[in-house]
Amino acid sequence: MIPPQEAERLRGVTVYLIGMMGSGKSTLGAELAAQLRRPFFDTDALVEQVAGCSIAQIFAEQGEAHFRELETQVLAQLSGYTRLVIATGGGIVLRPKNWSYLHHGLTVWLDVAPELIWQRLSRDPGQRPLLQTPDPQTALQRLMREREPFYAQADVRVPIHSETSLSQLVQQVWQAICARLREQPPCNP
Ligand code: S3P
Repeated sequence: MIPPQEAERLRGVTVYLIGMMGSGKSTLGAELAAQLRRPFFDTDALVEQVAGCSIAQIFAEQGEAHFRELETQVLAQLSGYTRLVIATGGGIVLRPKNWSYLHHGLTVWLDVAPELIWQRLSRDPGQRPLLQTPDPQTALQRLMREREPFYAQADVRVPIHSETSLSQLVQQVWQAICARLREQPPCNP
């Protein structure tokens, strides 16, 4: 566990996890939130709640633009709160408007090596609408290339080159957050 006095270094700041699909934002986010004793939210799960159906269904029946609209609405609502840990969908970084919300907190990019991402996603095919193409690996590479400059706007980058245990990963992310907080201590939002 992260000791409470250490966790207080974040003050009221919300942590937003960003990164490609398959980078582990939801799993890591839930554990980081538990260790920081903070509420955890996942924008994909909230979008599904609001829509009353799965993300795959939203994409198939109403299209990506509608999904992006719901995603922005959910993010806008969450950004009104403090002290949260939030896992975001991989494409949240694409809309400039979303950054106006992400900048309410501290953004952390889980920069997972492409081979690792592909290994993970190919174990679980069919879950990601944007990869439902004849050549999902090329589609993934293209998305990564296009999105990298957006992810690179994060306050904190955590490079991940190999599979590590969840507890080690939380430590790595927390150390990276602390390093950033030492450079630039947060004011209470
Ligand atoms: C998307 C990533 C997904 C989900 C949707 C679109 C993307 O979330 O929001 O399928 O554009 O990269 P994860 O990053 O949690 O897989």
